[in-house]
Amino acid sequence: MRTLTPAPEPVDLVESYAYPPDVTWLRANMVASLDGAAQRDERSGGLGNPSDRHLFLLLRGLADVVIAGAGTVRAEGYGPVRRSKGWDGVRDGRPRVPPLAVVSRTLDLDFDSPLFTEATSRTIVLTAAVADPARLKAARERADVIVAGEDALDFRSAIRQLEERGHRRLLCEGGPAVLAQLVADGLLDELCLTLSPQLLAGHPVRILNGPPVPVPPDMALAHVLQDDDDFLFLRYTRRDT
Ligand SMILES: NC(=O)c1ccc[n+]([C@@H]2O[C@H](COP(=O)([O-])OP(=O)(O)OC[C@H]3O[C@@H](n4cnc5c(N)ncnc54)[C@H](OP(=O)(O)O)[C@@H]3O)[C@@H](O)[C@H]2O)c1
Repeated sequence: MRTLTPAPEPVDLVESYAYPPDVTWLRANMVASLDGAAQRDERSGGLGNPSDRHLFLLLRGLADVVIAGAGTVRAEGYGPVRRSKGWDGVRDGRPRVPPLAVVSRTLDLDFDSPLFTEATSRTIVLTAAVADPARLKAARERADVIVAGEDALDFRSAIRQLEERGHRRLLCEGGPAVLAQLVADGLLDELCLTLSPQLLAGHPVRILNGPPVPVPPDMALAHVLQDDDDFLFLRYTRRDT
C-alpha cells in the first residue's frame, strides 16, 4: 500500500476526462455516499456538491450522447442538455449540445415536457418492440426512436445503433437499473464515481441495482481527484479494453 500524495496544483479536467480517440467508449458517471447509497431522499442531488455538479456538466460536454434510464429522468425531472460553463472548445465540430437518450420500456414519459419540446439536439428514446404502439407513435412525433430487442431493450444493439449515428463518446448517467444491465452485458468501459463524505444508512439503492453481474469486469484505477470538501472523484477503466 501507499498513500496518494495530493498535488497542490489544480487539474485540467478536460484533459483528465478526455475520451480515448477513435473508439466507441461507454463511460458512466455516478455519485455514492461513503456507505454506498446512490440516493438521498429518492434522488441523487443530495449526495453531490458544486465540484460534483461541475464535473457532471463537463462530462456531458465531452460526450456525443447522454444515456439515462426513464426512472432517473422521472425522479430527477430531467430537461434537455444545455450548454454549460467550461465547455469552450470541448465541442468543436460537434452539435452545440449532446442529445439525451432515454431508456424506457413503458414509454411512460411526458412528451410535452421541455425534454422533448425544447431539446436543441433532438431527444432519443431507446425502447423495445414490446412498447405500446400509441405511445411509440407519440414518441416518434417528439423524439428519434431506436427500437432494439423484443421484451426489453437490447443494450448492445442500442449502442450499436447510437454508434451508427456517429455517437462514439457515450455517457451514461444511470440510474442503477440501467447501469447494472450495461455492466452485466459487458458494455461499460469506464466508471466515474464521486464519493460523497456522507453516511446515510436506510435502504437506498447502490449505483448498480440488478441481479449479480455474471462476469464482473476487472477495473483499473485511472485517477483519484479530491476537492476542498473532501469529496473524491474516482475514475476506473476496464482493464481489458
Ligand atoms: N447516485 C447516482 O449517481 C444516481 C444516478 C442516477 C439515478 N440515481 C437515482 O436512482 C433512482 C432511479 O434509478 P432506477 O434504477 O429506478 O432507474 P433507471 O435505471 O434510471 O431507470 C429504470 C427504468 O429504465 C427503463 N429500463 C431499464 N431497463 C430497461 C430495459 N432493459 N428495457 C427497457 N427499458 C428499461 C424502465 O423504464 P420504464 O419504467 O419507463 O419502462 C425502468 O423503469 C433515482 O432515485 C435517482 O435519483 C442516482
